[in-house]
This record gives sequence, structure tokens and C-alpha cells, in this order.
Amino acid sequence: MSDPGARPSATVYLYELAWILPSIAIPIGMLAALTVTAFGAGIHLPTLEGRVTPSQVAKTAPFDVPGIRQTGPGRYEVVLTSQIWAFAPNEIRVPAGSIVTFVGTSKDVVHGLLIPHARVNAMLLPGQITRVTTRFEHPGEYPMLCHEYCGIAHHTMWGKVIVEPAS
Ligand code: CUA
Repeated sequence: MSDPGARPSATVYLYELAWILPSIAIPIGMLAALTVTAFGAGIHLPTLEGRVTPSQVAKTAPFDVPGIRQTGPGRYEVVLTSQIWAFAPNEIRVPAGSIVTFVGTSKDVVHGLLIPHARVNAMLLPGQITRVTTRFEHPGEYPMLCHEYCGIAHHTMWGKVIVEPAS
């Protein structure tokens, strides 16, 4: 019979340590990774860039002229509007290696902008301007999807980014 007053064996302490140390080290590691990516690499969530009245989007610059424009060597800005159930523009062409900034908003309800394999995952909210920047490294077609349920034809709301081989 074991003695209830006996000291726990050293093995028990080792097992406890084996759990406790990683449970402390993992959050510290995650916090460090977060700090390095946010302040060192400058990686942030898509941010609120400004406000715009949803009913006036079509008359408010820059959203009165949606489309793509070059802002520098290898740099482009896409002014993107969303409404049920379409993006404008819904097809974008850039050369491989381009850095593209999307400046978007919604004319009506909440939409999303998801470009798989291009690290774009943002919300397009009525009243708000969203800005998100990414680099299109490899040639190909990248779907541009609405990933916030926005009504009966939500699944038809998509466009594409065509990345052409750099000349
Ligand atoms: Cu727009 Cu779903």
C-alpha cells in the first residue's frame, strides 16, 4: 500500500515539467513571432483606410473610376468596388513580380476579397475603405473571390487576377 503522506516521486515532477515548460514556451514563442512579423517585417491586418458613404461610392474619388493604374516601376494600385454580385474591375492583368495594392469598398452589403495563393484576405465593408497590398510572384490566374455571404448569388461573385510572365 502506498503511503498518502509520501513525497511524490521525481518521475512525476519530470512529467509535470515536460508539460509545463512547453505550455509556457509556446505562447512566448508565438508572442515573439507576432512581434517580429508586426514590427520587424511590417505585416499587418488589412486596415481601415478611410470612410466613404456607400450610396455615394460611384461619385466619390477614387471609386468613381474603378480599375488598375501603375503607381511606379512594378507597382500597381487597383481601385476595387464591390456590389451584389460583382467586383469592378473583375479582371486585372499585371506582370509577374508586381506589387499590387487593392483599395476597395462596398456599395451595398458586406463583401469579402480573397485571393488564394496571394495572401489577400480582406473584408469590403459598406462605409469603409480597405487597403491591402500583395506581390504576385508567379505567372498564372488567381481567382478573386467574395468570401463573405452576401445574398442568393454570393457564389457567383468572383473575378480574376491574370499574372503574365515578366517580359
Ligand atoms: Cu459578395 Cu459574397
